[in-house]
Amino acid sequence: MPELLAAIAPLVDGIDVASAGEMALALPHAKHISFAGPGKRDAELEAAIKAQVVINLESEGEATRALRIADQFGIVPRLAVRVNPTFDLKGSGMRMGGGAKPFGVDAERVPELVRALVSAGAEWFGFHIFAGSQALDAEAIAETQANTIALAGELAEQAGTTPHHVNIGGGFGIPYFPNEKPVDLALVSEKLTAVLDERADILSNTVFAMEMGRYLVGEAGVYLCRIVDRKVSHGEVFLVTDGGLHHQLAASGNFGTVVRRNYPIANASKFGSEPEETATVVGCLCTPLDKLGDQVGLPKADVGDIVAVFMAGAYGASASPSRFLGHPEPAEILVNK
Ligand SMILES: Cc1ncc(COP(=O)(O)O)c(C=O)c1O
Repeated sequence: MPELLAAIAPLVDGIDVASAGEMALALPHAKHISFAGPGKRDAELEAAIKAQVVINLESEGEATRALRIADQFGIVPRLAVRVNPTFDLKGSGMRMGGGAKPFGVDAERVPELVRALVSAGAEWFGFHIFAGSQALDAEAIAETQANTIALAGELAEQAGTTPHHVNIGGGFGIPYFPNEKPVDLALVSEKLTAVLDERADILSNTVFAMEMGRYLVGEAGVYLCRIVDRKVSHGEVFLVTDGGLHHQLAASGNFGTVVRRNYPIANASKFGSEPEETATVVGCLCTPLDKLGDQVGLPKADVGDIVAVFMAGAYGASASPSRFLGHPEPAEILVNK
């Protein structure tokens, strides 16, 4: 979302992008850009190399293509290696490391790849190690950070080169559901400080970065749609809206979750009113997957009321199949106080 990018860019040290499209949006704003993600096409590698964007290499094959393209244009490429770590982030909603993965290079092959990049004359920027996502347990995050920094030290020693930069990933979750608690940042900070104090000598001049993903914006977003029909089936009330999973796939429970649970939801036209009925809020798509709230307690809803789904600031429109069934796209509006 370009407006959000413009608002947030001055507040962060850099931006990690996952396509040439995102890179083009980030370039006017960011001091530092890295480009991660599997399956970068040659044209994307070329655009990144020409813009001096750091490429987080996802495989040896990608490294070979990046070196060839850089050579073709006579540019020294800025290359980091994404490591498929030997561990994953416990309790995370989505596991990104540990075992066979399409992301990164298996840790044991990384030193050889780093040596090859250095001897090919590339600027070797460092490591990208992203072990998981949506974790609320501060102990688990701290343990993963410690493992990540230890792994970066071992790989750097084996490669015989100091990384300028180590991206230790993120994985800080946000509390979507009842009984979930925000990450205890003080604990993470205390443990990370201790781990950094004890880090391997080879990392003493390394800059460390975290990529915070949904943590920065997820809680700030509210998705609004309007009730267009109210109906009863087998005694169950259905509130049918003009929105749905084509706008908010994550809230429908079909993105990154195994068990569907309701995002916090309200009748925004009747804020403050007590719940009076149990209703199921659905979208306008012809699929039972298109559910925004399953049997939620709400004030009595009327056609025309606005439904608000909270925690909708990440994985919203950009992560939803907006062309499915040809309904209008959602408007995305930045409310910048
Ligand atoms: C490399 C990388 N960075 C950042 C993210 C964003 O993570 P989240 O929004 O879950 O914190 C992901 C998500 O999978 C990722 O793979």
